[in-house]
Amino acid sequence: MTRILPLGPGSELPAWVENLEKVCFHQAWGPMSEHELLWVSGEQGFARWSAYPSLGEAELLRIAVDSTSRREGIGRALLRASVRGLRELGIQEAHLEVRVSNAGARTLYEGEGWQFQGLRRSYYRDGEDAALYLLKL
Ligand SMILES: CC(C)(COP(=O)(O)OP(=O)(O)OC[C@H]1O[C@@H](n2cnc3c(N)ncnc32)[C@H](O)[C@@H]1OP(=O)(O)O)[C@@H](O)C(=O)NCCC(=O)NCCS
Repeated sequence: MTRILPLGPGSELPAWVENLEKVCFHQAWGPMSEHELLWVSGEQGFARWSAYPSLGEAELLRIAVDSTSRREGIGRALLRASVRGLRELGIQEAHLEVRVSNAGARTLYEGEGWQFQGLRRSYYRDGEDAALYLLKL
């Protein structure tokens, strides 16, 4: 398994992450803000979070694995490594939203213990609902 590295605030967003964001989400979010953390697995996958240790809260913004490397456990390993790291920072509660149709990602989250909280109707620009999840750390 590739080593997973956390990149803290102030780190440059690697170019391959930006490319993978464009491929998977049609647009890259650009440089990381001071509240963001990034875990990367080789150059195959990343998990991008915003974290607020003083509030004990974090949000999984994006997780993606290159299409040639999926179903090899990279997404799960990224989630586990980032949750471990966030716990060490004092995060107690993690949130995420995901398209309701994204069955693969939802299976991954539910398998890692994330609890479905409900829907945010027409959350995405194309009208699709978001499914909200919570993980108690
Ligand atoms: C979601 C994503 C990150 C999963 O990464 P991955 O490395 O392929 O996931 P893993 O190999 O760690 O999968 C772990 C488990 O999640 C579930 N899972 C993952 N992808 C799945 C799929 N396409 N269909 C069904 N279950 C899936 C399975 O239970 C899997 O375990 P298994 O392979 O032993 O059955 C990847 O599919 C991806 O990059 N998708 C595009 C971006 C995206 O939609 N991100 C989520 C919204 S931000």
